[in-house]
Amino acid sequence: MINQETINQIFEAADIVDVISEFVTLKKSGTNYKGLSPFTDEKTASFMVSPAKGIFKDFSSGKGGNAVGFLMEHEKLSYPEALRYLARKYNIEIEEKELTAEDIQQKNERESLLAVTQFAQKYFTKQLETAEGKAIGMSYLRQRGYREDILEKFQIGYSPEERKAFTTEAKKQGFKQDYLVKTGLTIEKEDYIFDRFAGRVIFPIHSLSGNVAGFGGRTLKTEKSIAKYLNSPESDIYHKSKILYGLFQAKKSIVNSNRCFLVEGYTDVIALHQAGVENVVSSSGTALTEDQIRLIKRFTENITIIYDGDEAGLKASFRGIDMVLEQGLNIKVLLLPDGEDPDSFAKGRSSGDFIDYINKNERDFITFKTQVLLPEVQNDPIKRAGLITDIVRSVSVIPDGIKRSVYLKECSILLAVDEKVLYAEVNKIRRKKLEQSWKKQRPEPAPTIAIDQPRVPGFVKNVYSEVEEREIIYFLLKFGNQELRISSEKNKELSVAQFIIREILNDDLEFTNLVYKQIFEDVRNIIESGKEITERMFTFHENKEIQDLSVDIVTSKYELSKVWKRKESYVEMPGENLGVEVPKSLLLYKMKVVNFALTGMRKELQETEKNGDIEKTMEIVGRLSNLERSKNLISKEIGERIILQ
Ligand code: CTP
Ligand code: MN
Repeated sequence: MINQETINQIFEAADIVDVISEFVTLKKSGTNYKGLSPFTDEKTASFMVSPAKGIFKDFSSGKGGNAVGFLMEHEKLSYPEALRYLARKYNIEIEEKELTAEDIQQKNERESLLAVTQFAQKYFTKQLETAEGKAIGMSYLRQRGYREDILEKFQIGYSPEERKAFTTEAKKQGFKQDYLVKTGLTIEKEDYIFDRFAGRVIFPIHSLSGNVAGFGGRTLKTEKSIAKYLNSPESDIYHKSKILYGLFQAKKSIVNSNRCFLVEGYTDVIALHQAGVENVVSSSGTALTEDQIRLIKRFTENITIIYDGDEAGLKASFRGIDMVLEQGLNIKVLLLPDGEDPDSFAKGRSSGDFIDYINKNERDFITFKTQVLLPEVQNDPIKRAGLITDIVRSVSVIPDGIKRSVYLKECSILLAVDEKVLYAEVNKIRRKKLEQSWKKQRPEPAPTIAIDQPRVPGFVKNVYSEVEEREIIYFLLKFGNQELRISSEKNKELSVAQFIIREILNDDLEFTNLVYKQIFEDVRNIIESGKEITERMFTFHENKEIQDLSVDIVTSKYELSKVWKRKESYVEMPGENLGVEVPKSLLLYKMKVVNFALTGMRKELQETEKNGDIEKTMEIVGRLSNLERSKNLISKEIGERIILQ
């Protein structure tokens, strides 16, 4: 772990222009630098770097951030990897955080386990050269047609039949039995021990950084009673749900081709490599997990799942795929001809042929699912309705609105259902989900106290008002420290941030957007502890979402277009009129909240009137008139402010 002080030092040393120049050709443009986006293939430069702010913003892909963020995005480094990269570049010695005894023990234990798996991998590979290994292991691999270089690339091996040959050798080399057992290589029974993988061909499973985390072992026997594959059990170094077989060998090719093939098994991955297709991984027989998807997403957003055409497996896998869609990945499906799996199909085909076949035959997931399931339900209206609901649910999890509408158009044709009906269903599901997530995140409102500005009763907070919320955050981040001059106020010493905080707290309002809410809380803490806020606190924030959003705000397009008119130099928006703009923005926000509450209350009133509950009706009428008074006050204020402007 890198300690915070070193991290600060790295951030201070990192010169963003210097860092990015290694990857993008930058030209000076006013006080900033400009270049072609490294994330898209644009022709007109819209990639901006601001040395003063220490951030970049790519207007063509929307990405933005600081030097570390750039390295993570462009070089696909993890956060600590990016920090280490910069530390090396600027000769900063990395001071690791002091580890607790427990940390050390855990670290030591992990290292000991990795030492065991590394030894085991070398041992198994060497066994392919022994008499037994040649006669059994190697002859099997040859018969399957695997080339020498491919066996080496995947470090394939063989574990002898003798039931504890490996364990005996490992212990002789000084490895503790405890660790042999923890990695699962040795199985311990009450009065005897034996090798888990005895007599099997060994497929080492590598972590993303190339360590051997676990193994898969294939039996060479044909008895049905023997499991074809045995795998390492879960351990401190092997978490089945967080690892993808082949990713270590595939990651470069996945980035280059911007696409990842997903197959079922070890041998499929290996066969495809041998055919020259290297951007392929396998979840090794289990359903794809969210963690695995996140792993792939670090390298590409495009996944093509390759199935061997067995129907049962196909349908089972449909369920897992919604998860992939939910992560915003593009997912396609390729069905191989009957009786073929990727392993057999790749044999005798060149990588060009194979990829041609994929490109011609892969289909978009949702279309594919509809086509597979439709024939079965065609004549049964209830089942057909079930299928429609099912497909609609899949579409509704896709984060991107444009993609959703493309799917709905297509599904409406395939399913012969009016597009509008599908839309309505999707919207219903999405709304419900949104409401549920709000409910989970929102505490009960608290009572309020009256102060000077027009007030919003406290029980009506939490109204979804993205635009208004964002505008307030914009003022906080860009002009938070500036003094606010409000003609109607005596408190002239107020800063923009102080004013906004006061207004939001007085009315007990709460941002619905959680990122805004967090920014607001942070600003509030900083101001309340008597400090000033800086943009950098947020554009370099430890929370990536806050970083992204604040970079977005401080470099917002509005500002850029204005700036470009001014000879392409990055000038701050003047904010000359903060005394008018800030209160107005708060008033508009409050107006939205009040209007929302009014609508709700009127509906409530109608209901109670219908039920004939006089007491309740009177109570609501009372609340309504209070709220209407607030609304009038706010309208009046807004009117005056607008005239003022
Ligand atoms: N698998 C497993 N345990 C089993 C069977 C299968 O873990 N008892 C996993 C393995 O990761 C295997 C994958 O599921 O690679 C796919 O299974 P299968 O198609 O049966 O194996 P193949 O990889 O095709 O192996 P082979 O070509 O040698 O039959
Ligand atoms: Mn197979």
